[in-house]
Amino acid sequence: MDIISILEDKKQRRALSKEQIAYFVKGAADGSLPAYQLSALLMAIRLNGMDARETADLTMAMAASGNMLSPDVGGVPVDKHSTGGVGDTTTLVLAPLVAACGGKVLKMSGRGLGHTGGTIDKLESIPGMQVELPEEEFVSIVRSVGCAVVGQSARLAPADKTLYALRDVTATVDSIPLIVSSILSKKFAAGAKAIVLDVKTGSGALMPTLEASVELAKAMVDIGHHAGKSIVAVVSGMEEPLGSHVGNALEVKEAIDILTGRAEGPLKRVSLFLGSLMLTASGVMKTEEGALVLLNRALESGAGLQKLKEMIAAQGGDPRVCDDVSLLPKAPVIYPVQAKAEGYLSHVNGTALGLAAQRMGAGRVSKEDIIDPAVGFVMEKRMGDFVKAGDTVCTLHAASMESAKETEQRVLDALTFTKEPAPKARLLYALVKPEGIIPLNE
Ligand code: URA
Ligand code: CA
Repeated sequence: MDIISILEDKKQRRALSKEQIAYFVKGAADGSLPAYQLSALLMAIRLNGMDARETADLTMAMAASGNMLSPDVGGVPVDKHSTGGVGDTTTLVLAPLVAACGGKVLKMSGRGLGHTGGTIDKLESIPGMQVELPEEEFVSIVRSVGCAVVGQSARLAPADKTLYALRDVTATVDSIPLIVSSILSKKFAAGAKAIVLDVKTGSGALMPTLEASVELAKAMVDIGHHAGKSIVAVVSGMEEPLGSHVGNALEVKEAIDILTGRAEGPLKRVSLFLGSLMLTASGVMKTEEGALVLLNRALESGAGLQKLKEMIAAQGGDPRVCDDVSLLPKAPVIYPVQAKAEGYLSHVNGTALGLAAQRMGAGRVSKEDIIDPAVGFVMEKRMGDFVKAGDTVCTLHAASMESAKETEQRVLDALTFTKEPAPKARLLYALVKPEGIIPLNE
């Protein structure tokens, strides 16, 4: 076996054998293949594709490139994965609610990437919270509390670490076989038996069109199903931020507000929908309708909030933030961004808002940057809302007045107002199951 013949085969659009795939995945994981040959292969795969069998072989080889966990969590381990959103804090809402309903949520999350936020960065804004836990401890928390959220261990799917870093800088992120294998290999290695995927569509999403997003969702569900997993995918919109809060501590606050019943809206709706799929995928409930009733009950009784407290305490954090959100980091400058003229908010550029938050210090611009947990903003208006001149459209939580002024312009540039009434943003487009695609219109 040699890498040049593998490159030649993919260049000529020939399907790679399972052995060829295992060879280059091993070379990516152990560093025996150089970046230039792996990069050439990634581009050949991006341009010439892989069939379903090759994609499945690639996923399994990447999953097996490091440790494979088969955790005993006292039930079916269920994970949820979003392909990246802005103001998307579904994990912090649904993990405790699903746990309160008897699910076993074993969640490995990432840090912020580009304009999108990362659950691990959000959790670290809670004083004392540990997100790097030894495997046994993490599994033991899932067993006793019902949920734990930690960072991706470097020992799981190490081939993806190498390949993902190369894709990021070789314009080969937007490839269905490469995305499917990257996401699912990490879920398989972490031992998830039930998987709910939230595939985003819209500007700033991994795939450029609704059709391509549905195709990506279908490819992941097919590969997961054939690997014996209970798996479903939701295709959801990501034009405007899902929640109203963008920024690490602010998003934790919003999740707590929802769990206490103080806040409503699309973040709550999508979290409950994904949560209902987690309960059915893991076999805790038979129907999504029944699961929704149970989740709403856990929300109203405060059982979900109690689970979040237990999880935070188990991971070394200060659970009092759940009763008193003022214990979360606070920014020194609170600054209202006002509308310049009246009109309907017809479009929100979520990517631009995500980048604005990143620039304020909520995300990293280079890998070494240290994020500021307190900064970000709260959107006071949603798509379709009517605003008068002088209305506050967004409240900034900034590190300085200079940062606030700079962000004010970025936020205004991300919003489009029209004279004519404008529709609300679409939230849900499709539910993809192994047996077929169900259109959603919400
Ligand atoms: N997230 C991943 O982990 N991998 C991808 O390829 C894309 C998004
Ligand atoms: Ca989501």
